[in-house]
Amino acid sequence: MTFSKHLLAWFDQHGRKDLPWQQQPTPFHVWLSEIMLQQTQVNTVIPYYQKFTQHYPDIQSLAQASLDDVLSLWTGLGYYARARNLHKTANIIMQEHNAEMPDTLDKLIALPGIGRSTAGAIMSLAYHQKCAILDGNVKRVLARYHRVSGWPGIKSVENQLWQYAEQHLPSKRIAHFIQAQMDLGATLCTRSKPQCDLCPLKEHCQAFLYDLPQNYPHSKPKKNIPTKQSHWLVLQLNAGEILLEQRPPVGIWGGLWSFPETDSPNNINDICTQEFNIEVSKITIEPSFKHVFSHFKLTVHPHLIQCSKADKKIAENNNACWYKISDALRLGLPAPVKSFLQSLQ
Ligand code: ADE
Repeated sequence: MTFSKHLLAWFDQHGRKDLPWQQQPTPFHVWLSEIMLQQTQVNTVIPYYQKFTQHYPDIQSLAQASLDDVLSLWTGLGYYARARNLHKTANIIMQEHNAEMPDTLDKLIALPGIGRSTAGAIMSLAYHQKCAILDGNVKRVLARYHRVSGWPGIKSVENQLWQYAEQHLPSKRIAHFIQAQMDLGATLCTRSKPQCDLCPLKEHCQAFLYDLPQNYPHSKPKKNIPTKQSHWLVLQLNAGEILLEQRPPVGIWGGLWSFPETDSPNNINDICTQEFNIEVSKITIEPSFKHVFSHFKLTVHPHLIQCSKADKKIAENNNACWYKISDALRLGLPAPVKSFLQSLQ
């Protein structure tokens, strides 16, 4: 129990105890914060977490909300499937679990958006059960401590890390121990400049003793990600309204509102006349910008198209709607769409 003993002693002095989701670590709060914290820094999450819990203090209020409202509160956090799964899972919990967050690993993992590590966090932090987690921080700590070779995206490497994660679990103070692992990874055992001199585990850390901690965990083999082009049709009526389309529920920015787009600038006029039946008075090409997703890069070329005649019916048939900019800003929008709309205001 060397690992947990040293880590808990360090946590008592240096661990984070004032994060908003630690104040009342209910299963709902732990679940929500863990989902928000996936791929996202604590400082980014805090204001979103506070706003979200003001609107939706419990599972029931989240389940009753419209998906559009939930996505709107998520605008800017990214990875929107997280918000769709939260909403879906809140409804499943209302219907199938009597409005109570399940309290076993298996039942939690069966819910949309909850993987083994998130389930482990709910079980340990909210229900104080002896369950492990393996998020990015914990993977790094354990890969260094045990000097595990190989990229953790490989199943056998991940399985080895899970074994270590379970092996170190203490019988007492499980919630503090789990939080301590995450805190150590976030504050001292960081990816590029670990502060090993301050680390409570340095006497037994295999990477520190026999290698360089920065070499672990091994990184993903590099592959080039493609760049795609998107030409946005920012259609604006003389009165100022903008046309937005709701994107299909699956895929990039699923369910969010965005501008009509095309992958080639050659058919812009045709789209305006044939798809939307509008009369174009002026087209201004705005500066292009890049947006990076996990598996491709997008270069966006916004075309600001002033138009004089709008056919509301045709917009509706295209799953689109004309919005005043101030109203549009209250919809669920991808971050680059939101900032572009703000620049038009
Ligand atoms: N990252 C994931 N879960 C966390 C938590 N509970 N506290 C801080 N950072 C985290």
